[in-house]
Amino acid sequence: MRHLLLTGVAKAYGPTLALRGVSLALRGGEVHALMGENGAGKSTLIRVLAGLERADAGEVVLDGAPLRLTGPEVATAAGFRFLHQEMQVVPGLSVAENMHLAHRIPQRWGLVDWGRMRAAAAAALAELGIAEIDPRATMADLGPGDRMLARIAATLIADGGPEPWLYVLDEPTAALSHAEAERLFAVIGRLVGRGAAVLYVSHRMDEVMRLADRVTVLRDGVTASVLDRAAMDRDRIIRDMTGRAVDALFPPRAARVGRVLLEADGLAGGSLALRAGEVVGLAGLAGAGRNALLKTLIGALPRAGKVRLDGVEVPPGPTAAWAAGIAYVPRDRRSEGVMLGQGLGRSVSLPHLGWLARAGILRHRAEARLVADSGAAVRLKAEGPGQAVAELSGGNQQKVLFARALAGKPRVLLLDEPTRGVDVGAKADIYALVRRMAEGGAAVAVASSDLAELIGLCDRIVLVRDGRPGRDLAAEGLSEAALLAAIYDGEAA
Ligand SMILES: Nc1ncnc2c1ncn2[C@@H]1O[C@H](COP(=O)(O)OP(=O)(O)OP(=O)(O)O)[C@@H](O)[C@H]1O
Ligand SMILES: [Mg+2]
Repeated sequence: MRHLLLTGVAKAYGPTLALRGVSLALRGGEVHALMGENGAGKSTLIRVLAGLERADAGEVVLDGAPLRLTGPEVATAAGFRFLHQEMQVVPGLSVAENMHLAHRIPQRWGLVDWGRMRAAAAAALAELGIAEIDPRATMADLGPGDRMLARIAATLIADGGPEPWLYVLDEPTAALSHAEAERLFAVIGRLVGRGAAVLYVSHRMDEVMRLADRVTVLRDGVTASVLDRAAMDRDRIIRDMTGRAVDALFPPRAARVGRVLLEADGLAGGSLALRAGEVVGLAGLAGAGRNALLKTLIGALPRAGKVRLDGVEVPPGPTAAWAAGIAYVPRDRRSEGVMLGQGLGRSVSLPHLGWLARAGILRHRAEARLVADSGAAVRLKAEGPGQAVAELSGGNQQKVLFARALAGKPRVLLLDEPTRGVDVGAKADIYALVRRMAEGGAAVAVASSDLAELIGLCDRIVLVRDGRPGRDLAAEGLSEAALLAAIYDGEAA
């Protein structure tokens, strides 16, 4: 059986000690979960393993022999394959080309062998059960779920090099629907069945409990615990991750709901009303148009009807919507959210610069205070407002978006998959914040593919189909099975 052992791995980024002595043991035939709060060091450890980042200290032993991870080619030759968390796709290139970004390009007479490249991509897509994605399609034309699936399939490409045996997946299900995730789980089962190891990073506890044979928990850059199946229990993992018990993930529901605050019509023939104090879930299958619906409300997509806040029509366009007190947390933080290369402070303050300025001059102190206060409210882990967003852990990038939405004390909060990539402790914080906003009189709409989140967080859940809000259900007492059935029912009708 193949095995890999890492001990005492350390890595600093300037003053930040991302890893301070991590150990990790992997063996063929196991799904090994890697868990930890946002910023605990998971992705850093993975980049070290991939040879993308040199550790400051530590040892790596592969099948009994020392391994010096001096570059990505060493990791490839050792049979490691990676799905990195914050890896970009190149939208203008084809699916097949994107899938070969980390692989040897097939050549013939010194020229790119397009036929073989497409065939390799098609074979990998078929292995993942998604032969309907065309390797020749342009990446930009794929939805987020399909893009993620193509990226996952890329790790399965046979490029003629050494046989891969270790698959490292950093939050593979973050952008996937239920059904898409099931396909991935089936592939993971097959890989492990033929002796491969899968190192699996996820903040979704139910996935980890279902898939993992063992779990290594990181906390602040050190290994906090290693638990095997028998010792794996949700509360224990959370305690090891956070150093505290998180007993109530969801806050109590609203005692009373006020008058209608936001009204929108012309939404693919439907309408939506959000009341003060109310948290409304938007449920639907992938592609049901929840994302487009929220974008229409924030003015990022042209609208057919009118949006009224307190009876007053909100002019079109996002600037007017933000100014009117509508805030939005987008689903895809990299393409429509943060500015990766810039200081995180500006990503938080951007939609608020209008009121932060006086007589056309930006009040820098007010901006700094806004950034500090809203960052603290979401427990953002960063060195300061000047730190580049790209340097933050994935979950902390998500918190930047949340901080931005809260910064203007919005009256309507529109959230699209707000806790994607966010750890359990931070999830509980975000849920509490959402509830506090509602109690303060705001109206909240949340689109989520996490059914437990919709049921636990919301007062009522609206079923969305083809971009149209349809019938709604009370969330209290609703089971996941009943919600899923209602979602499918709508599709069947
Ligand atoms: N390039 C970098 N420059 C500076 N600091 C960095 C860099 N990359 C990571 N860090 C810091 O290292 C720490 C660990 O980050 P890492 O991305 O490994 O966390 P993570 O466990 O993957 O979190 P998440 O669950 O949010 O993805 C964080 O404090 C992060 O801000
Ligand atoms: Mg990470």
